[in-house]
Amino acid sequence: MTQSLTIRRPDDWHLHLRDGAMLQGVLPETARHFGRAIIMPNLVPPVVTGADAAAYRDRIMAALPEGMDFTPLMTLYLTEDTNADDLAAAHASGLITAVKLYPAGATTNSASGVKNFDKVRPVLERMAEIGCPLCVHGEVVDAEIDIFDREAVFIDRVLDPIRRATPGLRVVMEHITTADGVAYVQANDRDLGATITTHHLIINRNHILVGGIKPHYYCLPVAKRESHRQALVQAATSGDARFFLGTDSAPHIDALKEHACGCAGCFTATNTMSCLAEVFEAANALDKLEAFTSLNGPAFYGLPANDATITLTKGDPVTYPAKLETGAGPVTVFDPGFPLHWRVA
Ligand code: NCD
Ligand code: ZN
Repeated sequence: MTQSLTIRRPDDWHLHLRDGAMLQGVLPETARHFGRAIIMPNLVPPVVTGADAAAYRDRIMAALPEGMDFTPLMTLYLTEDTNADDLAAAHASGLITAVKLYPAGATTNSASGVKNFDKVRPVLERMAEIGCPLCVHGEVVDAEIDIFDREAVFIDRVLDPIRRATPGLRVVMEHITTADGVAYVQANDRDLGATITTHHLIINRNHILVGGIKPHYYCLPVAKRESHRQALVQAATSGDARFFLGTDSAPHIDALKEHACGCAGCFTATNTMSCLAEVFEAANALDKLEAFTSLNGPAFYGLPANDATITLTKGDPVTYPAKLETGAGPVTVFDPGFPLHWRVA
């Protein structure tokens, strides 16, 4: 039985760090284990220009505790007014790694997102030209589409048409939650990857709704039925290089989660590696953990894997604090609902 596992230091290909006191509070939770992370730009106001991204990167680096080694990979928030030259300059200088597409209204702080996809076509064409990947929040927002169907409908109505119209555009389907998302990635072997979160490998929609509403399991895209979770576990543990970790760790203070209109987001930065080791072990796929957390993501982005390694060891259950106290308020740490035996040494 494996009791110790040494892997390349992981990266997180989808992370919300927020700003100010929250940033200060949550950043060490990620930097402790992860070498790099794709930083989501959905601040208020969003990170839209190269100058915004540079300023945000500086605030992240200023919040990084001394002695911690972490590289934020910045993104721009795509709007209908995004300037393609500014974007291209930010990409050429290495300031940004990707651009994020939120359909307007799809999720937290997405009001400035895209309503009319035709309006961003020239920017997407430019991105294809320069090799800048597009990270996509793949949900339609039409009121008549059931929330559990929004990802599948997005693939047919929005994503596939965009990819056909923009050959060469590299796309990351972010936080896929359905067997449909898995199948779409598997059917397209060029220029397409997908991130999978920690929590979507663990919870299904029953966790949110059975026995009372559990606001800390509510996130977007919302967790789907069990068969979809199983498809995600299969994809993540398969070793297929198109699937990689993006935790979508999305901190909100408890007061805003435990609320009549609770915010969407699960905070998994603290215990993600322990949770994932448990999931991969249960799937008899511990030997695929490194590909998912540390190799496939860099390969998609054309970056080297981290030189450093981490070692996970198995033993008595590890306990994590139920809450992270931040200067912005307490944030509940994701509860996988089962004991965690793997810890990062
Ligand atoms: C994210 C957030 O809180 O910013 N919430 C979430 O449920 N994942 C936004 C997002 O990535 O959709
Ligand atoms: Zn997110």
